[in-house]
Amino acid sequence: MKFFIDTANVDEIRKANDMGVISGVTTNPSLIAKEHKDYAKTLAEIASIVDGPISGEVKATTTDAETMVKEGEAIYALDPKHMVVKIPMTVEGLKAKGIPTNCTLIFSANQALLAARAGAAYVSPFLGRLDDISQPGIDLVRTISEIFANYPDIHTQIIAASVRNPIHITECALAGADIATVPYKVIEQMTKHPLTDQGIEKFKADYTAVFGA
Ligand code: G3P
Repeated sequence: MKFFIDTANVDEIRKANDMGVISGVTTNPSLIAKEHKDYAKTLAEIASIVDGPISGEVKATTTDAETMVKEGEAIYALDPKHMVVKIPMTVEGLKAKGIPTNCTLIFSANQALLAARAGAAYVSPFLGRLDDISQPGIDLVRTISEIFANYPDIHTQIIAASVRNPIHITECALAGADIATVPYKVIEQMTKHPLTDQGIEKFKADYTAVFGA
């Protein structure tokens, strides 16, 4: 399983990229709005930082396929090597063709299967939001993964999204997600273990006792 970072904050993206753990970025209209910066410029800046797929979503107010494709082409043109166009899972969204797409807001296996057959490069099941309504989100990731594995002609990759904590990450890896897109805070949480902190302190104490600072 690979890691993408799920944010539009360029400082967080730079920090995660410097760690060497991320191979792409996902954004959405909410995440970009949080930064209060120009939509297209933010996507272009992100694409200049990370050498991997960068998902930029069509406008949250767009509902028809024709406009989605026009906006998608503009997003793709920002950086054709990196940009992937995020399209919501709707009948109109499924019609968008001719650009690499990440079909987002997936909440059922059938939605994922339709998106795959419509040619999406990625599907993004939102596990945290299913957990929020008392449905185990990880079951959806596992089911999609099992279905896609039954059909070798499906090359759509599963991006586990709406990841909220480190347990989600381990579960996604076990469930067969190709990618987990992770907020910066969760990447940091994944680095932590109390025994690691204790070990560092002990090495420091033993070293300085003999060799000084
Ligand atoms: O990748 C999708 C993500 O940004 C949504 O996360 O926590 O708002 O459900 P959340």
